[in-house]
Parts: sequence; C-alpha cells; structure tokens
Amino acid sequence: MKPNRRNWLGQVGLILGGLSIEPVKNLAAPQLSGAVYFPENMPIWLSSNENPYGPSPTARKAMAESVNISNRYGWKLTSDLVNTIAEKNNLATDNILIDAGSTEILDLVVQLAALEKGNFILAEPTFNFWSARAEMLGLKKIAIPLTIDKKHNLPAMLQAITTDTKLVYVCNPNNPTGTICGREELLTFINEVTKRTLVLVDEAYIDFTNQPSLSNLVTENKNLIIAKTFSKIHGLAGGRIGYALAHNATIERMGQLQSWVNGGVSLVSCAGALASLKDDAFTNETKSLNEKVRQYTIENLEKHNINCIPSYTNFIYFSVENYKKDYFEQLKAHNIMGTGLYEKQGKWTRITIGTMAEMEKFINAVK
Ligand SMILES: Cc1ncc(COP(=O)(O)O)c(C=O)c1O
Repeated sequence: MKPNRRNWLGQVGLILGGLSIEPVKNLAAPQLSGAVYFPENMPIWLSSNENPYGPSPTARKAMAESVNISNRYGWKLTSDLVNTIAEKNNLATDNILIDAGSTEILDLVVQLAALEKGNFILAEPTFNFWSARAEMLGLKKIAIPLTIDKKHNLPAMLQAITTDTKLVYVCNPNNPTGTICGREELLTFINEVTKRTLVLVDEAYIDFTNQPSLSNLVTENKNLIIAKTFSKIHGLAGGRIGYALAHNATIERMGQLQSWVNGGVSLVSCAGALASLKDDAFTNETKSLNEKVRQYTIENLEKHNINCIPSYTNFIYFSVENYKKDYFEQLKAHNIMGTGLYEKQGKWTRITIGTMAEMEKFINAVK
C-alpha cells in the first residue's frame, strides 16, 4: 500500500486502538542505573519529584510503537490527545493548550502577563522556575512568605495585590512544602482575585490528593488558568508534556504566543500521554503506593527528630534542625540525591518519595 496521509492516520489509530489497557499489578520501577544516558553508579534519585514507577506499561508500549512513525508529523495524535484531555475534564477542546511540559505552559502565562508592565505575586518558598523569566520580561516580584505551617498565606497574597498586579501564582499543592489550600478558601480567593487580575493555579501534584481539580471553573472565568503536567503521576517527566486549562479566549491568547499552536510536543510523547490518560489502573496504583511509602518515610524520619510537614504530594518537606547528624553528609555517604535547603532558618529540605526499597535505603542513611 502506498503511504498517504489517510492510511498513515489509520495506522496511528491501529497502534493506539490495539493497546489493551490491562490492570497494573505490582508496579515495577524501570531500571535506571546503567541504562543508556544514565551513569553506572547512579545515585538513588530523590530530588525531582518524578514517578519512580512510570511511565505506565501502556504508555511505554504506545511510545515504543509510535517511534516507527516518527518520520511524520503527529497532527492526528495531537488532536486525539487534546480531545481526550477535554473529555476527561468535561471541557471543550478550545479550553486546552498543550506544550512541552508545564514549564512551557507557565512560561506562556508569564509572557501573557508581561505584555503589560506591573508586578506578580507568588508564595515563598514555592515552585519558582518561571519567576526569573517574569522578572526578565519586566515584571516586579512580590513574594509572600508561607504561614508558620508552610501553607499559602492567601489573605496576605490578596492584600498584596495592587492595580499593577498582572499575575498571581498559586501552586496547589505547593512544591516544596507538600501543603494544600483548603478548597473553600481557595475558591473564595480565586473569585476575589480574578475580578482584578490573572490567577495561575499550578496543579502539578493535584492527582496525588483527593481534592478535585478547579478545571470546571475555567469556562466562566477568563482570568483563571490551570497548569497540569504529565511529569508527575503519569511518570512522563522525560517525555516533556503538559497542558493548560482555561477559558477559550485565554487559550486563544496563549496560543498566539506559541509559534505552532499545540505543535511543541513530539508524536512519541503524545502517544505516551494519550495511553497514560486511559490507564487509570496505573495512576491509581501510583497514588496508593505513594501514600503507603510516604507514611512509612514520615514515621521513620520523625523517629530521628526530623519534623515533617504533612504532605499531600509525592515529596516531603522537613526540618533537619534537630537532627543529630549532618543530614547532607549522610545522603552523600549513601549515594542518595536529595535537595539542598529551601529555608535556612529551621533548615528545611525536601525529599521525593521513591519506591519502598529506595526509601528503606534513605531511612537507613539517616539512621
Ligand atoms: C509545581 C510544579 N509545576 C511545574 C513543574 C514543571 O513540570 P514539567 O516537567 O511539566 O515542566 C514542576 C516540576 O517539578 C513542579 O513541581
């Protein structure tokens, strides 16, 4: 058969349609050390909040199969993915924008906000990769410290808003603290703030919680943008794929900032994301394993005078101020990669929740 666009699209459909979504039993973590591009004696990697079990088996299969058709552009897959995201969120396709990771989505929001001079408001500490870019584009940063229990101080953020505020960022749950805003409080905040300016809610970790996404609000509110990623519960961090949910008018403006609307994600990553969205068994199992291993880790850290903040995510924020040994030396000696200090006062650091075997090694290192 002579290849043409029509039968190529059919081929893509066959590949994806042929995927059987089997329930996941006993998720096996992919072997990293010694794999291509990873060093032989790679540390236990607990620094980037990745999913140690992913990508899902069905996503791996879809990605492997789609490699063969990577000589072609992936229009049909992209639109299938956008359709599926829309369906899953009860939204229309023009409420969705995809890009190469939610980092790129945050960047588009920053570019949109920076079209006018002014300031932006975020918590401190929070996920702030994007904020240097906002400053470079001329927005002034206003950082509002978290509360004593490491939550967003929404009343203080609200008070900090001026007529010059172009963007307010809420990371929910928050990275690095793992805390979550109460839903009612957050809804009131969004209702108030979006009357005045743009609010970006980053839901990178929402699927690890029992709190629903705010996605249903976007159709009524042009000033609310929700950022989501496939890097965390879907285990596709290296696939680089994320998306925005927003009012169609807002999505249209964000799309105007992309050189090619929805064109920044590879066919292979789209295939993986699409398969993963249909694999609830994988995401459910990731969530429940994460809860189990998180509880084990917190219980054992606290035995060593390490005060942990209750976490709603796949990482834990804790203070090593009262820990008897040098925490960072202990990690180094056991070839474990954590993070540095986020707050010097109180010596607060973060650890990603790996597999049970990895966290047993981590706990052994801090013993
Ligand atoms: C809160 C938050 N938002 C966004 C991102 C970026 O994710 P992505 O891999 O989709 O660019 C991260 C990554 O760690 C994150 O923690």
